[in-house]
Amino acid sequence: MPPRSTAAHPLQPTQPARPDALYTDPRLAACYDTFDGERDDLDHYRAILGEHGARSVLDVGCGTGSLATSLALEGLAVTGVDPARASLEIARAKPGGDAVTWVHGTAEELPTLEADAAVMTGNVAQVFVTDEAWAGALQAIRRTLRDGGVLVFESRRPERRAWEEWAADTAESEHEVQGIGRVRTRQVGFEMALPLVTFADEFRFEDGTTLTSSSTLRWRNEAELRSTLDDAGFAVSEIREAPDRPGREFVVIARAV
Ligand SMILES: C[S@@+](CC[C@H](N)C(=O)[O-])C[C@H]1O[C@@H](n2cnc3c(N)ncnc32)[C@H](O)[C@@H]1O
Repeated sequence: MPPRSTAAHPLQPTQPARPDALYTDPRLAACYDTFDGERDDLDHYRAILGEHGARSVLDVGCGTGSLATSLALEGLAVTGVDPARASLEIARAKPGGDAVTWVHGTAEELPTLEADAAVMTGNVAQVFVTDEAWAGALQAIRRTLRDGGVLVFESRRPERRAWEEWAADTAESEHEVQGIGRVRTRQVGFEMALPLVTFADEFRFEDGTTLTSSSTLRWRNEAELRSTLDDAGFAVSEIREAPDRPGREFVVIARAV
C-alpha cells in the first residue's frame, strides 16, 4: 500500500530510474489525454514560441505529443524527447506525428541540435527531483539550443501550496476513454516531505484490472529556478503567469547565453 502521511521529514531524494506508470504503461498512457482534458495550457506556449519567431523546437518530456504534433502541423521542425515509450507510441499515431522527430530518452540524452527553442510543458520541470538531475537536464537543453535560443517551461509556485488541495482530494472520479472504456481513478497514497510531494493513484478498468501509478514532484521557488538556470548558461528574460492557471505557476522564459 503506498504511503498516506503528511508528515514532513528529511529525505535524500533519488531520481527515479524510469518515469511513472502513468506514462510508461501502455494502458495508462492511452488514457493520459482523456485524463488531462482540454489542453488550453498549451496555447500559451504556442503564443510564446510565435513571439520569439521559433521555427525549430525541442519538446522535452513531450509525453503523448499534444504540443509537438500541433507545432509540426503548423510547419515547425519539432523534436520530441521522452523516456516513456508507451507515450511516444500514442504521440506518433496522432495527426502530425509523422512530421515530428521522436527520441526515446531522457532530457540528459538529447540529440545534438541548434534549436531555436525548447519547451517543457505539463510541469515536466518538477519530475527532476534531485539537484543533479535538474542541473543535468538544463545543461543538456542548453547544449542543444543555438546561442540566443529560448527555453520556456512551467513549474508550480510553492507558495500556492497546491499539495494541500491534492492531499484532500480523495474522491473517486470516472472517465470514459475511447477504445478503453470506463476507468475509475482515486488517490491511494500521499506523502509530503517538502520540497518533494509523492502521490499514488489507482486506476480501475472495466475488465477488473487495477493499475497504480506513483509520482514524486519537486517544488522549486523562484530564486532556485533563477540560480539553477544561471548556472546552466541561461539568462531569465521573463517569468509570466499561466493564463489558464493564474497565481499557480511560474512560466519561465530564459535565453541561452
Ligand atoms: C506530466 S507529463 C507531461 C507530458 C507533456 N509535456 C504534456 O504536457 O502533456 C511528464 C512527462 O515527463 C516525462 N519524463 C519523466 N522523466 C523524464 C526525464 N528524465 N527526461 C525527460 N522527460 C521525462 C514523462 O515520461 C512524462 O511524459
